Amino acid sequence: MALGGTIRGKTTTLRLPVEADLASYNDWMADMRVRHAHWVWHEPAMPATWKERFTEAAKDKQLLLWSIESGGVLVGLAVAHLWSMGNSVDLNHLVIDPERWRRGYGCDAALALHRFFFDYLDLRRAQADTRADNAAALRIAEAMGYVEYARGHNAHYRNGSYVDEVKLIVEKEAWQERWRSEREYPPVPPEAVR
Ligand SMILES: CC(C)(COP(=O)(O)OP(=O)(O)OC[C@H]1O[C@@H](n2cnc3c(N)ncnc32)[C@H](O)[C@@H]1OP(=O)(O)O)[C@@H](O)C(=O)NCCC(=O)NCCS
Repeated sequence: MALGGTIRGKTTTLRLPVEADLASYNDWMADMRVRHAHWVWHEPAMPATWKERFTEAAKDKQLLLWSIESGGVLVGLAVAHLWSMGNSVDLNHLVIDPERWRRGYGCDAALALHRFFFDYLDLRRAQADTRADNAAALRIAEAMGYVEYARGHNAHYRNGSYVDEVKLIVEKEAWQERWRSEREYPPVPPEAVR
């Protein structure tokens, strides 16, 4: 597991996951609100299975996994995969505890995460998939500067009808353009990296 260390947003902090977080991970993956919104990182399972998954995740050099905290309380998780080329990332899961939705945690954690991707890791692009009826995910993606590059028509069936799968991408330039005026730190001057 490539560990991103601690990333601080305004209301959330992304930090190293610990074994004590796994019971909450399990609860979220079993929650129908989460399952309706997005595919799960892993199916619900016994604690020993989660421990094994955690150990396996720790061996995967391209996997990035964080627990998300707010005020010292665990409120979510994020999972991403660095491409083998090392210049891009797939954001696979950003999950906030459904009991704590719509408090701004998702947006704050996403902003902190993308600062890390683009400003610290210096990646070229980030990709994410979402379902077309996932209003919260689409709103966050739009705020980060993502644009749709492909669409799977009628890919998911729920409540008697089909919804599309939306494939999204944000390039570093779009991110910089979007967030240029709201940086908390000045960009590194070109002479500093020569
Ligand atoms: C997507 C998710 C992380 C958002 O978390 P959250 O903490 O509720 O998000 P926020 O409170 O920061 O809201 C983000 C934006 O979406 C909007 N929003 C949230 N829920 C919404 C809903 N049900 N309908 C419409 N808009 C919604 C908010 O108003 C906010 O928009 P704003 O910035 O313009 O005010 C959360 O819903 C979740 O865990 N979903 C399950 C997993 C998932 O779908 N992940 C995304 C794909 S990786």
